[in-house]
Amino acid sequence: MPFTIRRAETSRDFEDYYTISFDLFKRFFYQGSKESDEVLFEKHKAELEKIDFSDPDRRLYVAHNEQGVFAGALWVGVREQGFVWDLPEEIPAWVYDVEVVPAFRGQGLGRQLMLQAEEWTREKRIKRIGLHTSHDLEIALRLYRDMGYKEKSIIIRKNLAGDTTLPATPFTTRVPRPDEDLSEYYRMRLDSFRELITGGASLSVEDIRERYPGFKTAFDLTNPARRAYLAETADGTFAGFILAVLQKKGEEKRVWLLDLQVKPQFRRKRLGTLLLRLIENWSYAQGCKDVQMFLNVHFHGAVKLFQSMEYETTNFYMEKRLL
Ligand SMILES: CC(C)(COP(=O)(O)OP(=O)(O)OC[C@H]1O[C@@H](n2cnc3c(N)ncnc32)[C@H](O)[C@@H]1OP(=O)(O)O)[C@@H](O)C(=O)NCCC(=O)NCCS
Repeated sequence: MPFTIRRAETSRDFEDYYTISFDLFKRFFYQGSKESDEVLFEKHKAELEKIDFSDPDRRLYVAHNEQGVFAGALWVGVREQGFVWDLPEEIPAWVYDVEVVPAFRGQGLGRQLMLQAEEWTREKRIKRIGLHTSHDLEIALRLYRDMGYKEKSIIIRKNLAGDTTLPATPFTTRVPRPDEDLSEYYRMRLDSFRELITGGASLSVEDIRERYPGFKTAFDLTNPARRAYLAETADGTFAGFILAVLQKKGEEKRVWLLDLQVKPQFRRKRLGTLLLRLIENWSYAQGCKDVQMFLNVHFHGAVKLFQSMEYETTNFYMEKRLL
């Protein structure tokens, strides 16, 4: 069945979009809320009304069938902020939302809307387009993969069932002292990031600081919500480091891993496993049900390690190169 896609213009177009987008937005932004759907819908609408779709860097499209019945919508735009590894001048376009009315699903409209997003991106001369999706949106995930989108980063999660035993390793671990010199860890962190963005080419610390301002070259470990463990060999040589933060949102507590680094010569000796287990046990002791991490998939060793420890991917940040 052919569909017509055009820019949203009338108040009816916007009302249609507010309605169709409510379910997904409710899941992402108002999960667990005790307020009624009517109240949440008004909030949702008020949030969307703040967005200026007349901005040339943002576009809302609506789709109709031959009878003029509203069938779907697409919100595409230049992403306001890239990821830490995106150069400011190379931030991808972003599909903020693509929705097809249930009665019109399975008829190619989702793909048609995505192609429209790609066309808009090419017209803007933006090289890449990206999107975020979740593991339970299986059909969407399949469509994006089929259209050539590949995950660039993921959120992984593990549900914690209790305190677990630590693997036997030749390393000792401890919480770093507040005044401890962690320059060796920060150097290693920087090397991993440099490898990620350049594939090993040289780039000075100053260049990294200037061109990737979101990359943290040091952390404030006096913040009580943060927990770090440092690993050493028997002779006191620095071997690895892990850092996590406890996040409280209302009743909900959640731990996010911020970084994990094992010195190259000490890899594949269960040190990564040990450091992760320490954080998992600490998280459980804090009353958390799970641990999460936002991870670039190009950290292959880390992806494997998390898989070996039964972490599951919950969110996908995918990208496709267009130009
Ligand atoms: C990811 C990292 C922390 C892993 O540390 P590690 O101490 O080598 O991990 P472990 O020895 O505990 O690995 C446990 C299991 O994970 C899997 N694994 C870990 N690294 C792997 C790799 N490079 N390739 C394949 N599998 C790997 C294996 O199943 C391994 O068990 P095995 O050695 O018996 O096969 C380490 O490679 C590292 O510091 N990498 C650079 C920084 C980084 O990517 N950090 C994460 C992003 S913030």
